[in-house]
Amino acid sequence: MRIIKIFDTTLRDGEQSPGASMNVQEKLTVAKQLARLGVDIIEAGFAYSSPGDFEAIRTIGAEVEGPIICSLARAKEEDIKSAWQALKDTPKRRIHTFHSTSDIHLKHQFCVSREEALKRSIEMMKLAKSFVDDVEFSPMDATRSDINYLCEVIEAVIDAGASTVNIPDTVGYSIPVEFGALIKSMREKIKNIDKAVISVHCHNDLGLATSNSLAAVLNGAGQIECTINGIGERAGNCSMEEVVMALRTRRDIFDADTNINTEEIMRTSRLVTKITGIYVQPNKAIVGANAFAHESGIHQDGLLKEKSTYEIIKPESVGFHSTKLILGKHSGRHAFKSRLKELGYELSDEELNSVFEKFKRLADQKKDIFDEDIEALISEDVTKAPEVYSLVDLSIVSGINQKPTATVKIKTGDGIIDRMEQGDGPVDATYKAISAITDTKSKLLKFEIKAITGGTDALGEVMVSLEENGRAVRGHGADTDIIVAAAKAYINALNKLAARKKQI
Ligand code: KIV
Ligand code: ZN
Repeated sequence: MRIIKIFDTTLRDGEQSPGASMNVQEKLTVAKQLARLGVDIIEAGFAYSSPGDFEAIRTIGAEVEGPIICSLARAKEEDIKSAWQALKDTPKRRIHTFHSTSDIHLKHQFCVSREEALKRSIEMMKLAKSFVDDVEFSPMDATRSDINYLCEVIEAVIDAGASTVNIPDTVGYSIPVEFGALIKSMREKIKNIDKAVISVHCHNDLGLATSNSLAAVLNGAGQIECTINGIGERAGNCSMEEVVMALRTRRDIFDADTNINTEEIMRTSRLVTKITGIYVQPNKAIVGANAFAHESGIHQDGLLKEKSTYEIIKPESVGFHSTKLILGKHSGRHAFKSRLKELGYELSDEELNSVFEKFKRLADQKKDIFDEDIEALISEDVTKAPEVYSLVDLSIVSGINQKPTATVKIKTGDGIIDRMEQGDGPVDATYKAISAITDTKSKLLKFEIKAITGGTDALGEVMVSLEENGRAVRGHGADTDIIVAAAKAYINALNKLAARKKQI
């Protein structure tokens, strides 16, 4: 059976989703989880594009073991040199360089002839190859390129050293029968094609990214580029969980599989949601909240008799566990630690102390604590920032005939400051008070609230997105009191903005 390589581009193309930008620490956290998931290659960023991306590639290269770490680079000298600088201390490294091949791009965007584009692609491939052995080349907008020219470019870059040739459906224009046929004809027309792995990179503008990638596998592709939850430019990229589970579930058709440890899929999906602030729709295949929920009586009846009647994937095989009551107020540290281990979290002593303390506080407020509650507590730590501001106290007066009023106390560098404000609702009043205390000039772009589990005593989780001077940050907060959760999320985001200002 063939093993199809999984090239994860959540940290590069995925990060191009509006509002999904991640800082170095967040990227490192995702990269460590991608390594646990078993991806073969992590595209950690685009080194030349920003100092943050450069640093993220360098840090991930130094700290994440297992996958090959890759940087994107345009077919330009400065990009390739920057990718090399970011990767030079990484043992398993790849440079991914690209140049458009479609006449639409060459004529209207880059104003170069086909000959010039070919020459540049060869030269830059040679330059990248002088730094690293493992170089990937992408002819951007391949699916709208003239096939003979596309094949000419690919043959030339393989001769110049490309070990992977990646065929992007940049604008998500192709359909499965056509995309599969393209891969097939490339294999027939390009003389040296067996010297390189054929990869595919499909966008989801017509909702066909997963199908196109699978059609390519049936026609000989050996690598799929994809992202967690399918995030990415515009309508996103091929979704990793879908393509991996399609290959696993229908091995009979594909005669192929991947190295992915599928039980890590749900956790990775939740982590990416938490860090990017992009939620998946409930009916999303594999990782949506309803992906394994059976509502119809006929289906439930069948399932009770025999699971295979309506279930093609075991939920546990992708790490989807039904909500489980875990611990309560009297549970000790040992039981807590071993439950965390079962959930796949190996925390340092310091991290364990912090989460255990929060767990005990939560257990005082909430009778039953579920796996999802624990994950929310852990993710508060994942998304934490150095505390320039911390919430000391908050009280609210609100009701049908009352003007909502918040009194907030915050610890700042100048001591504890309190402030009372009124607003249109309790969150508005609280945010006005926090904004006055911290004297922030930031703008609130997004505010989302959801209950983590069922029940009126559920933890409420708030995600906010703030913008100041063109920089956007996300903040998270979880609490059984939703106004406190909202205040924590706002303060978490303000701390991130303060940390970014210090980095300048
Ligand atoms: O969609 C695209 O064409 C890309 C390339 C850089 C591979 O993301
Ligand atoms: Zn792309």
